[in-house]
Amino acid sequence: MMDFARQSGSLIKKRSDCLIVGIFEKRKPTPAAETLDQASDGLLGKILKRENFKANPGDTLTIHHLPGCRAERVIAVGLGERKKLTGKSFAKAVEGAARAVLATAAKKAVCTLMEAPVQGHDARWKARQIALRFADAAYRFTELKSESGDPPRLKQVDLHCPDKEDGEAVDRGAEEGRSIATGMKLVKDLANLPGNICTPTYLAEQARHLADRHGTVKVTVLEESDMEKLGMGALLAVSRGSRQPAKLIVLEYRGAKAKDKPIAVVGKGLTFDAGGISLKPAQNMDEMKYDMCGGATVLGLVETAALLDMPLNLVGVIPSSENLPGGNAFKPGDVIKSMSGKTIEVLNTDAEGRLILCDALTYTERFEPRAVIDVATLTGACIVALGRHASGLLGNDDDLCRALLDAGETSLDRAWRLPLWDEYQEQLKSNFADLANIGGRDAGTITAACFLARFAEKFKWAHLDIAGTAWNTGQNKGATGRPLPLLAQYLLDQTGA
Ligand code: BES
Ligand code: MN
Ligand code: ZN
Repeated sequence: MMDFARQSGSLIKKRSDCLIVGIFEKRKPTPAAETLDQASDGLLGKILKRENFKANPGDTLTIHHLPGCRAERVIAVGLGERKKLTGKSFAKAVEGAARAVLATAAKKAVCTLMEAPVQGHDARWKARQIALRFADAAYRFTELKSESGDPPRLKQVDLHCPDKEDGEAVDRGAEEGRSIATGMKLVKDLANLPGNICTPTYLAEQARHLADRHGTVKVTVLEESDMEKLGMGALLAVSRGSRQPAKLIVLEYRGAKAKDKPIAVVGKGLTFDAGGISLKPAQNMDEMKYDMCGGATVLGLVETAALLDMPLNLVGVIPSSENLPGGNAFKPGDVIKSMSGKTIEVLNTDAEGRLILCDALTYTERFEPRAVIDVATLTGACIVALGRHASGLLGNDDDLCRALLDAGETSLDRAWRLPLWDEYQEQLKSNFADLANIGGRDAGTITAACFLARFAEKFKWAHLDIAGTAWNTGQNKGATGRPLPLLAQYLLDQTGA
């Protein structure tokens, strides 16, 4: 993982591989850029002008051997209009800068973007963003290639911060950003692994490794025999068509007194979703290896919380299984009995996420959580409704939903709330069981959440549908690490940080 340190010395006297300076629209310099411009006798300004540098957020220009300073290269990065520097533009600028540095051979960079005034955000937030985005931009998944290519050289970024008063905030922010990026790396690695490697058993092993890395984390893995004793008929039904045994992975992070009620995070860990007997079409079916992104997010979040020694208790629950067709698979029309006692008529075996989650939600009751958040790549309908920009949010508690929406805004990993009105519950009526597992074509994301709501009546609960946000399709197919930034921010907010 990339390292971050704070520095406050002279920008021009120190030798460095790379110096990153911000430029506002109309080529108005930030203080660092001004310093370099003066040291180079106005050459920096001249070059920017000659290259017609627009300074839109994220634009970059790499200049080698600028006279007057001892940096191997200077990267000018656009910040847009000074008076309109929003959190989003800042993040875009930082991302552009990170990409530009990573395209060079620099091992160490000095970033002066802390000095940019960002609307509504403080030094800690800026440092968090810089660390997070630099570390995340350096992420590569080459594990399964024989030739790993040129790995990124950048190992350290110094945050230039002349304002000593901000010192502590910058250090904390950078540590937070780095820890979130470490969690995101875990999420992405697990999610990018294919279904033949990342099985429920593999996920359980990774959870054990996580507990080995942190003394504050305890892991318990429930086997199918345990699930049978608990009456988890829904989770077991989904797993029946698979030769890989299902696992229920339970992580407990202790950062506060034992009697402090935990926050529980439940993540869908479906390591491959072929749809079961209600088989999916072949097109893009490979992407259903990502159906465990919710579960991976739970692992990543626990890692982040542990790295930051967050003063709270956190429980992570990951129901993990495959969903495959086969002679022993569950079928449309089957009626199954969930751990809660409620019976479910299976009308589509491809609506399996809610089935493994409902038993996990019931299981979570035993922790007497103060809030439960489930995270799941649950419905294609969520992509239709919100695209890939926002995660879908639904829940039975307005304060909890508000807190999650706010955390999404702060972290720039946004969610958007959809209604969970009683009217929609009608769609889940079954002639043969307490409820059906699908609610027809209309409002697919909402009826999926309505189903979960029936198993979340005993606690404050929110559901994040991350079908659109957890991975990119097409050319840069791969896991995004979302919604870890949102959830980490939510936890930070809960600790009053
Ligand atoms: N894992 C899928 C949801 C999904 C689909 C995520 C596409 C990302 C991209 C889920 O298990 C599923 O198959 N849902 C069905 C529900 C339907 C049968 C009611 C869907 O969305 O089509
Ligand atoms: Mn499915
Ligand atoms: Zn699924």
